[in-house]
Amino acid sequence: MSIISNNISKAIEILNQDDLVAIPTETVYGLAGNIYSESAIRKIFALKQRPLFNPLIVHIKSIEQLPELAREIPEKARRLAEAFWPGPLTFVLKKQPRVPDLVTAGKDSVAIRIPNHPVALALLEALDFPLAAPSANPFGCISPTSAEHVAAYFPASLKMVLEGGDCKNGIESTIVGFENGTPVLYRLGSISVEDIEVVIGAIEVKNKKEVAPDAPGMLSRHYAPRTPTFLTDDVAAFIQAYPAKKIGLLLFKSRIEHPAVHAQEILSEAASLAEATANLYAAMHRLDKLGLDMIVAERFPDHDLGMSINDRLERATKK
Ligand code: TXA
Ligand code: MG
Repeated sequence: MSIISNNISKAIEILNQDDLVAIPTETVYGLAGNIYSESAIRKIFALKQRPLFNPLIVHIKSIEQLPELAREIPEKARRLAEAFWPGPLTFVLKKQPRVPDLVTAGKDSVAIRIPNHPVALALLEALDFPLAAPSANPFGCISPTSAEHVAAYFPASLKMVLEGGDCKNGIESTIVGFENGTPVLYRLGSISVEDIEVVIGAIEVKNKKEVAPDAPGMLSRHYAPRTPTFLTDDVAAFIQAYPAKKIGLLLFKSRIEHPAVHAQEILSEAASLAEATANLYAAMHRLDKLGLDMIVAERFPDHDLGMSINDRLERATKK
């Protein structure tokens, strides 16, 4: 029997019993548990095989709940929250003592967002506690953007995936922190740098592990298919060198015909970066199941959500 269900009462019951439910959000599915339950939080780390030094994002239901968990909230965080919450923007803020150290991996800060998904919001509304929820994939694998992706990752070890359809945004939230009051972007994501800068002015992007030791989850290799994957500016030229290989292509807007190409995913025929972002992970999941020798991805225009897509493709292709 499938673990996928739309029984929200059952999800509430499981979460109240210190167990885990995978939940839909507008970005990717999350593996959720009560932040105040030590056993639930330990189960999240164990199921994901995630190192204990990598802190979890906390999901709350309203802006009013923010001061319960975070302190010294900068004015620019308030403005961004008003502009983008509920939505795919996560803040790293100083934590209140009540946030368990296990959730924040011992750090004095906590990552928080309000998801913009009716099912996630209904669930949070019905619970007495916030939910810790990292992306619902085993450590290092492609994040899930459908209930089926999650069920395929955890067929035996997870009680329930709460059905919420395909994730509309399709990649993780953008993460913003503050260093001496100055905003810093730690992870490119569903909200573009340009959109953030409209609200608060210039923001420094410290998206790479080398310059962001403070964002422990930003390991260089991440979001990776099992099939060897390559990123190039010129796909047609790249595949000429591999005539005998079985190749899958991940392309922005137009097809490429070549005898070595066994499958191709066009992320947005209309050349929309938002549509391409929404389709990215599902396309990677599909290509990864085909038994290909290699996946070749096309580099996106390096602006707006194209920057976020390129970031994920770079991590997926890092050796
Ligand atoms: O869109 C999302 O953010 C999804 C959905 C489910 O909400 N969640 C998600 O969680 O992507 P996860 O765990 O896969 O990524 C969270 C990132 C990790 O890189 C983690 O290291 C970082 O946030 N993070 C969490 N707490 C932090 C903190 N206190 N300081 C710095 N980075 C933190
Ligand atoms: Mg993740």
